[in-house]
Amino acid sequence: MTDRDPDENGWLSSSQAWLDRMPDTGDFAREFILDSLMVQRALGSRAATMLDVGCGEGRFCRMMARHGVQTTGIDPVGPFIDQARSRDPDGRYLTGYAEALPFDDGDFELVVFYLSLMDIEDIHLAIREAVRVLGPGGTLLIANLTSFFTSNGTIGWITGEDGRRHHPLGRYLEERADWFEWDGVRIRNWHRPLGTYMSALLAEGLRLTFFDEPAPVGGPTDRVERYAETPFTMLMEWVK
Ligand SMILES: C[S@@+](CC[C@H](N)C(=O)[O-])C[C@H]1O[C@@H](n2cnc3c(N)ncnc32)[C@H](O)[C@@H]1O
Repeated sequence: MTDRDPDENGWLSSSQAWLDRMPDTGDFAREFILDSLMVQRALGSRAATMLDVGCGEGRFCRMMARHGVQTTGIDPVGPFIDQARSRDPDGRYLTGYAEALPFDDGDFELVVFYLSLMDIEDIHLAIREAVRVLGPGGTLLIANLTSFFTSNGTIGWITGEDGRRHHPLGRYLEERADWFEWDGVRIRNWHRPLGTYMSALLAEGLRLTFFDEPAPVGGPTDRVERYAETPFTMLMEWVK
């Protein structure tokens, strides 16, 4: 994984647009669906040290640092790491890939993938690496897009014969990457069936201790109603 194109998935060229559109409170999914549950599970793990893989501009590290957790964030995109460091000068942020973590075995009590697994090219290697850097009994916390949602790819919404709008599945069992574009961001995301993620996690000997497909708590009514039509996030907690 050494000679990688630094913009292989569009995140480097999209980094400024992403920074411009992401408030510190997070977007809808983060602010009203995932953040509180992610913090609750992370604190529940009682971990004193956390690695956030695909940390972006470091928002979740900053949230956990406020709870006294010693945080490390890693992301391949230099501008995200620069931003993370400038917003949190005491934090520890490194550029690097999930597939080759520059840490020793057992360095962390908690490893997090917060909406980053679907961006990562080799999840088998990334999960193996996450498990390697976890200490015995450590927790792996994952927020990801649901596979039902990602299978839609670029089909988007369609109007059914009943006149209602639907967000259909598409080639669910076929693993593939699609490019998506919105608000100046153009990135590549992977669709993988849920079974691919579960098998990769089980193959590392992890034990599933929590699973949820959370509903929004609060948020603008139109977004909440749209989410009820097509929920798109899930949260899993695994223990080594
Ligand atoms: C949707 S963003 C999420 C960022 C952050 N976790 C958050 O919730 O705001 C996905 C992140 O995954 C990162 N990423 C993509 N490929 C990666 C890889 N191979 N290893 C680590 N991070 C990767 C991207 O650079 C990007 O910052």
